[in-house]
Amino acid sequence: MNMITCNTSEEAAQVAAQLVIDRVNAKPDAILGLPTGGTPLGMYAALAKAVREKRVDLSAVTTFNLDEYCGLPVSHPESYLTFMTRNFYAPCGLAAAQTHIPDGEAADPDAEALAYDNAIRAIGGIDLQVLGIGHNGHIGFNEPGTPPDARTHSVLLTEQTRRANARFFASLDEVPTRAITMGIATILEARELLLLANGADKADILAAALRGPVTPDNPASFLQGHPRLTVIADRAAGARIVS
Ligand code: GLP
Repeated sequence: MNMITCNTSEEAAQVAAQLVIDRVNAKPDAILGLPTGGTPLGMYAALAKAVREKRVDLSAVTTFNLDEYCGLPVSHPESYLTFMTRNFYAPCGLAAAQTHIPDGEAADPDAEALAYDNAIRAIGGIDLQVLGIGHNGHIGFNEPGTPPDARTHSVLLTEQTRRANARFFASLDEVPTRAITMGIATILEARELLLLANGADKADILAAALRGPVTPDNPASFLQGHPRLTVIADRAAGARIVS
């Protein structure tokens, strides 16, 4: 594992963006796995700036997002499709054909999950998967208890996750109860992983994930078994990690 601790979340965002830029410059048609949430916003802004300044060309990449809410119209401002369009696809000039995200409005979420997983396999797998971490250790929407062999599937969100994400909605009631997420096995098959964490509220769960036992109680702990994992944390999130 390569652990990079930065002084600030802004610096962490720059370092994360540079890692993505380096990988895409080395392989312009890279397959990128991407997260939502507050954590990657700085990285996305830095990538958009790099595109504008022609330090990277994203026109040949293909992206697969980790997850999407079920039962939220895709046009909702907090659907992950809208989030990605606003924060990454549009600012970076990505065409719709380059981007993939599970269809949260699919009539059969399990069939959609299977088709999504098959699409990732069909393209040859993900080169670089970027991840955030939830306060309970979730990656994507793989909540505690998810087995490591889970592939893309539909899930019931925990109360803690819904509460954490309620800040993006008018009320807790508006937060969807279900989602489709890449599974832990799908995530671990990526050839490289980049885990991002910012803020003191992530310090305990990040340390437990990286230094504690590998257990379904903390889904991010399964990342310990990946041969090519980079962790980029700001000083607050990295504070509890003893080397
Ligand atoms: C969300 C997403 C995850 C994300 C996590 C942390 O619910 N499904 O992919 O990594 O929770 O979010 P944040 O970065 O806002 O703390």
